[in-house]
This record gives sequence, structure tokens and C-alpha cells, in this order.
Amino acid sequence: MKETTLFNIPVWTKEIPNFNIEMKNRLIPLLDEYPERRIGGEKFLSNRHTRSKDFVEKFFKIISVELKELFANVHVNWSKSKQLRVVDAWSVKYNTGDYQRVHNHSSVGLSGILYIDVPEDAPFLDIIQPWNSWVTDKTEISSVKFKEGGLVVFPSFIQHGTQPNESRQAKRVIAFDMKIV
Ligand SMILES: [Fe+2]
Repeated sequence: MKETTLFNIPVWTKEIPNFNIEMKNRLIPLLDEYPERRIGGEKFLSNRHTRSKDFVEKFFKIISVELKELFANVHVNWSKSKQLRVVDAWSVKYNTGDYQRVHNHSSVGLSGILYIDVPEDAPFLDIIQPWNSWVTDKTEISSVKFKEGGLVVFPSFIQHGTQPNESRQAKRVIAFDMKIV
């Protein structure tokens, strides 16, 4: 018998070359303009509630080469008049003990995470399979480790989260959403 895969979930990853020398030096001053804060009962710090549209535009300019490469590699059957566009971006900082519960960003579009500061002992990104294992009937989780300069993009509907940061150093990322417009 022949095995066929009916569905698949695309995930794009890249390690940005010379991230520390080139891109990080441009991102840190931008993040200084929009510092992360802890809002309400959140177990992480973010500038999601305080950053402006400028942040999204400036972030897109800094990462545009990588995103254009991604856009050229995204194969879907949509009209040629449509395109992917970054519609939102925000930074998240995880101090010691901070974490983020499982969540998703939307039913449509793609979401990305760019890793800015990643201590050696920082927790992984947990990506949850949208269906149970047909063998064990349990939730399947892929835990993926990214270094500084790591970029990951996945469909926005994918549930994901991160375990508590047990490092003494903070983990910091920029998350962003893209939609077909
Ligand atoms: Fe997220």
C-alpha cells in the first residue's frame, strides 16, 4: 500500500547571517523607543499595548530582505493581485520565570517570531499539532530551539507558547503578523 499525506502545515525557518553585527544593531535602538512593559496579569513584558504604527513600519524596513525572500517562497493559490503584508509587530521580553500560555494569532495569515536575545538555557518554542496523535490520542507538541537571529514563520492559526524562562538572563523576541491583502 502507498502512504499519502493529505494535509501539511508549512513552517519556514532561517538563521539570519551576521545578525549580531548588522540587524541587531538596528533593532535595539528601535526597541529602546518602545520599551516592553508588564500589563495586567501577563507573565511576560511586551510593547504590544504601547507601540505605534511606526514600530511596524520601521521593523519591516529592517527585516524586509528576509521577508521578501520568504514571500517569494510562499506557494499558495491566490490571485496574483494579492500579496502578503506585515500588518502588526511587537516585542516580547521574558525575564526569569516569565512564560506565555498556548495561544494563536488569527484564523488566517502567517505569524513570525524573530529571536533577538536567547540565553543558552532559554526555553524552547512549543508548537502544538492541531489534531491529536492517532496512535496515543494525546496532544503532540514540537519543541523547537532557536538561536539569536533565528526567524520562524508559521500559519497564524497554529497554537504555540513557551515554558517559563529558567535562565537568569532575559529572552527577547519580536513577533509579527502577516495577512493576504
Ligand atoms: Fe504568539
